[in-house]
Amino acid sequence: MKKVLVLTGGGDCPGLNAVIRGLAKAAKGSGEWEAYGSIEAFNGVLKDPVEIVRLSKSKIGGIHVKGGTILKTTNKGNPLDFPIQKEDGTWTTKDISVDLVQKIKDLGFDAVVNIGGDGSQKISQALYEKGLNIIGVPKTIDNDLSATDLTFGFSTAVQIATESFDKLVTTAESHHRVMIMEVMGRDAGWIALHTAIAGGAEICLIPEISFNMKAILKRIKKRYKKGKGFVNIVVAEGAKVESGESLGSQATDKGDPHKKLAGIANYLRTELENMGCPAQIRTTVLGHTQRGGTPLAFDRILATAMGVKAFELVQKGDFGKMVSYKNNQIESVTIKEAVKYYNYVAKDHYLIKTARAVGISFGDE
Ligand code: F6P
Repeated sequence: MKKVLVLTGGGDCPGLNAVIRGLAKAAKGSGEWEAYGSIEAFNGVLKDPVEIVRLSKSKIGGIHVKGGTILKTTNKGNPLDFPIQKEDGTWTTKDISVDLVQKIKDLGFDAVVNIGGDGSQKISQALYEKGLNIIGVPKTIDNDLSATDLTFGFSTAVQIATESFDKLVTTAESHHRVMIMEVMGRDAGWIALHTAIAGGAEICLIPEISFNMKAILKRIKKRYKKGKGFVNIVVAEGAKVESGESLGSQATDKGDPHKKLAGIANYLRTELENMGCPAQIRTTVLGHTQRGGTPLAFDRILATAMGVKAFELVQKGDFGKMVSYKNNQIESVTIKEAVKYYNYVAKDHYLIKTARAVGISFGDE
């Protein structure tokens, strides 16, 4: 029997378990492969003793319905820049990738499937270049990987955000308030844009389009003047304030490279209040609720198809590839190509035009 090792890295996202199950079932069905999972990304391999589980029938039964990942995850385990605590308590980092590749081989694994976002796939590429037989599966609620039309988890996040938005609309209407809802998405405005259209926001602010406070206030005042009496705003966490910066702070956890984006909704509230906004303002930060819970049917299906495709690539020995969803087909691209470009919302994207046509302002006019 050949052995394939699966792992989930970076932030979790609805659909991860469906990929694991799809892959493990396809491997079993081949009659030639067995699937195993490394706990907490590559940490399971690196630990002594290792934390690796066999993805048996009982382990994967029914997991496609569950959110999160049965294999656990971390955004602190980059083997190219691995955090190590020194005896004096201070921290340093070390490139342990060569040892990691060797250990995976010594453990008898013939292939690895790395389910992760942009950062995880950059790691996949580096390990591939160091001789590891690896396949990438893209995951993120942010939909910010350019090589795939959609990532699983994104649609679920949009649904959660839209349901929350709908709830804010009724309370905004009752109190004649301005409601500002901050959603995730990192440096891309996909979740905000989709939620704004689905929910019928008056204003949508995204990192890709610079806004100005005067335009936002003008828009709010116009709506109150027209007698509409309430305003709902969706803002992406990465939306940039007028100086061109997104708000947040560097992660404090050792080994987590990401800036933690936060604060834009409250920033907008303070600015609008200082400018004399005619209505009471309330803010809601949805946070990690957008990543939790059971995946929508669409995401379960996409994730299952990606897991099955990943195993097909493993079986063919077509390594260094990432599974992608393009034009309603499951395909593959080289991981190298996949991590080249970030998937920003283009200013002339059809959804930007759609939003403008139904009266959504991006705070730029
Ligand atoms: O990339 C997914 C994501 O949820 C982003 O939308 C968000 O900025 C970030 O992860 C939050 O990271 P953490 O889970 O480390 O707080």
